[in-house]
Amino acid sequence: MLDMRAKWRDKDQLERIQFERAYIIKRLAADVVEAIAQLVGLLSIVLQIIHRVQPVGQFVLVEQMMSRALGGMSGLIIQFNSIDQDIAAMVDFQRFMRLPRNLNEGRKLLEPPQTIELRNVSFHYLKNDKLVLSDINMKIRAGQRIAIVGENGAGKSTLIKLLLGLYQPTRGQVLLDNVSLTDINKSSWHSYLGVLQQDFIKYRFATAYENVVYGDVQRSYDEQHYQRSIKQAEASAFIDKLPKKRDTILGQWFEHDDGTNGVDLSGGQWQRLALARNFYRQAPIVILDEPTSAIDALAESRIFARLFGKHGNTIIAISHRYTTIKKADVVYMMQNGKIVEQGSVDELVARRGEFYKMFASQIE
Ligand SMILES: Nc1ncnc2c1ncn2[C@@H]1O[C@H](COP(=O)(O)OP(=O)(O)O)[C@@H](O)[C@H]1O
Ligand SMILES: [Mg+2]
Repeated sequence: MLDMRAKWRDKDQLERIQFERAYIIKRLAADVVEAIAQLVGLLSIVLQIIHRVQPVGQFVLVEQMMSRALGGMSGLIIQFNSIDQDIAAMVDFQRFMRLPRNLNEGRKLLEPPQTIELRNVSFHYLKNDKLVLSDINMKIRAGQRIAIVGENGAGKSTLIKLLLGLYQPTRGQVLLDNVSLTDINKSSWHSYLGVLQQDFIKYRFATAYENVVYGDVQRSYDEQHYQRSIKQAEASAFIDKLPKKRDTILGQWFEHDDGTNGVDLSGGQWQRLALARNFYRQAPIVILDEPTSAIDALAESRIFARLFGKHGNTIIAISHRYTTIKKADVVYMMQNGKIVEQGSVDELVARRGEFYKMFASQIE
């Protein structure tokens, strides 16, 4: 199956390259033909003038007629070329339409899985053959609190995208209760997840309140639950200070009913709101990809202490802060797409290896 897909990919790539090459060659040929025609035409009229077959005045007329005719021709050629480009774009479109639409296919998960596993997973993005993940093995059990750490570019966010089923492994498998994610109904998997990615959505047309309760649109809005979520994310204080409190629209381009403009938030405030939205969702499996990078270390530590303190949820968190990671059950340290160390924080510190090197300044 994977081999088939690779084959298709190569074939599409080839088609595209062929189209692009044909485009360049045709344009070049058109330019050459145009230049030659112009040269020959002008040369012949100059010769005729020299031999007094034509009066000098004819030169201007002929030159103008020719440049008009050639202009029309090159317009035609450009149009032909743009057809080529359109066809090349069609190749991309067809490739997109051929991707499996498996969001609602496959076996439905009737409850959150007891194990989430990556087995020998390697992955590279389509346009680049360099492996972003190589031979990753990871087994997460329900209720575990997992931290993933590593430098920027180590592959942490990519690993999360594979777990979500947004990308499929180039090699290896993602397994939920030993069933491959490719055979599982993705919508049912996603219904158990509360994911906060680095590039989360900001609903600028909506109020602060709506930005939180959009976390779970399946249920009717729950006031108590809203209050709990904004407290947990430490968002209550700044929401109360907004011009219209929780009914403030969070985009300057939008107006309230009374004609006043909405307001924008700072990066940290948006993150707190996105966290509150995530908490409002009450998902059994929570995935947080650097959710508090714009929030100060003390607040992050408090937010995570609350999150990790509540047993029951499975939590997978990516963070660069030692105080946050410290509370995890298992830490995975990634480097260049590989897991180089794993274990409890105490074990990793005692090992004095890569983890220790990365966090030494924060451990003191
Ligand atoms: N959509 C993408 N297409 C191509 N390469 C990507 C894409 N997203 C990330 N990468 C590359 O994959 C590598 C890992 O990125 P990422 O998973 O975001 O790392 P991290 O989250 O640990 O900072 C980086 O080299 C990055 O440039
Ligand atoms: Mg990342």
